[in-house]
Amino acid sequence: AVYREHHRPQLSFSPERNWMNDPNGLVYHDGEYHLFYQFNPSGNAWGDMSWGHAVSPDLLNWSELPPALPVEKDAKGAITQMFFSGSAVVDHANASGLGQPGKPAMVALYTAMFPQARTLAGKTIQAGTQAQSLAYSLDRGRSWTQYPGNPVIELPPAPYAAEYRDFRDPKLFWHEPQKKWVMVAVLPNLHKALFYSSRDLLKWELMSEFGPAGSVSGIWECPDLFELPVDGDPARRKWVLVMSQNPGHPAGGSGTQYFVGDFDGTRFTWDRAASDGQVQWLDYGADFYAGVTYNGVPDGRRLLVGWMNNWLYGQQVPTTPWRGAQSVPRELSLATVDGKIRLVQQPLAELKRQRAQRVAELASAQVAPGVLPVQSSSAAGDALEIELRLQPGSARYSGIRVQAHGGQYTEVGYDREKGTVYLDRSRAGQAGFHADFAARHHAPVALRSGQLPMRILVDGGSVTVFAGQGEAVLTDQVFPGRTSKDMALFSEGGTAGVTGLSAWSMKPVQL
Ligand code: FRU
Repeated sequence: AVYREHHRPQLSFSPERNWMNDPNGLVYHDGEYHLFYQFNPSGNAWGDMSWGHAVSPDLLNWSELPPALPVEKDAKGAITQMFFSGSAVVDHANASGLGQPGKPAMVALYTAMFPQARTLAGKTIQAGTQAQSLAYSLDRGRSWTQYPGNPVIELPPAPYAAEYRDFRDPKLFWHEPQKKWVMVAVLPNLHKALFYSSRDLLKWELMSEFGPAGSVSGIWECPDLFELPVDGDPARRKWVLVMSQNPGHPAGGSGTQYFVGDFDGTRFTWDRAASDGQVQWLDYGADFYAGVTYNGVPDGRRLLVGWMNNWLYGQQVPTTPWRGAQSVPRELSLATVDGKIRLVQQPLAELKRQRAQRVAELASAQVAPGVLPVQSSSAAGDALEIELRLQPGSARYSGIRVQAHGGQYTEVGYDREKGTVYLDRSRAGQAGFHADFAARHHAPVALRSGQLPMRILVDGGSVTVFAGQGEAVLTDQVFPGRTSKDMALFSEGGTAGVTGLSAWSMKPVQL
């Protein structure tokens, strides 16, 4: 289906109805990309946490399926188990013994949240426990069986046993050099990532821990760990530890940091020199959280999906009958930028297939102080992709306004004094549901030959900016009026220029 409600994303997944948060269990299997997600089957705010499920042949068009792991309740209607965030792999070698000939098990490791005390597999579970449990599917993720020996990790390591109520978000991956499964989970309150290994996905051994480090001004959630070549050189590889944090993000509320370093199969070490010892934010906008990457992508690309929302106001955003969207998948790489190794992001290459019509084109333009409208043939409600090469020149601020109409617009600009690309939603539309929503968010970025290349996705409910090579990214939700569709260049305090602008209307993806 294609949903066309006001603010409905046209370029990425949102559920037909109800609340969604983190992406979970991102895995490719047998021609399908699976997207599981934190889902409330019965309401439009957080609650009754279950794993929702959608599948896609191409990471753009999705089919929503019934929830894979629905919340469990007792006869009185009280919750006995919720399914918090986790990940999935396909056990092709049948190391777990859960598969059958010709039917490898898709294995999900998730955080089982037990609000009430109970006994499971002979283990005493205290009320409020978050433990790591496993479920598997032999029919391409359509039906799931919980492992009878659950939970497979019942408690945090002994020194941290007091944290049994906050121990979660296991992310699995296959470590080829040592032929073992590795899992990273968090102790949110202690700002610790814990690394475990397993041969069979069932018995897990603690290997090491990392943290506190970097930003610790909020709890740590939803870790991920993966390896990438630096500057495309297969002989120079680094590992990236992604860590979501709530609150403490520069844009306010929840956001995601990353650490570049090394992983020897046992231990992750942060390479402080590679990043100047500075905190690196994966996205400088307010609305990218709990991002994790796919397992098993056939062509080896490292693809990241994040929840486009923020715990600060997430349950108040004015969308109905759904609330929450996932980002367009992003391709990740590592590049040396200004002498530091940075994570570089671009929207999934195949997104270009959604380009419907070129709606605006400029070879070059001078922008004198003020506003210069850009002729565009797009219609209200169209999702847009904009490629823009900005030359800030002598301007203090310069850039582009999108979804403009009658004094309403979202501004994407360069701030010469701060040396930042910014996304400003303070005049973007509805913002009254939270005092901190209307704001300008900044990402540090350097000009190259006086220019700043940008790729901007203007979608229902959000604007995303990839600036420079993709080392500076901002994602913000916006809730403009239905008629806000105009585009204009602007400059303030000097003359700016544009050395190329192309905009396309985008074909909506199937949901
Ligand atoms: C992150 C998070 C996770 C948890 C899930 C519960 O947004 O808080 O740590 O597993 O959401 O829905």
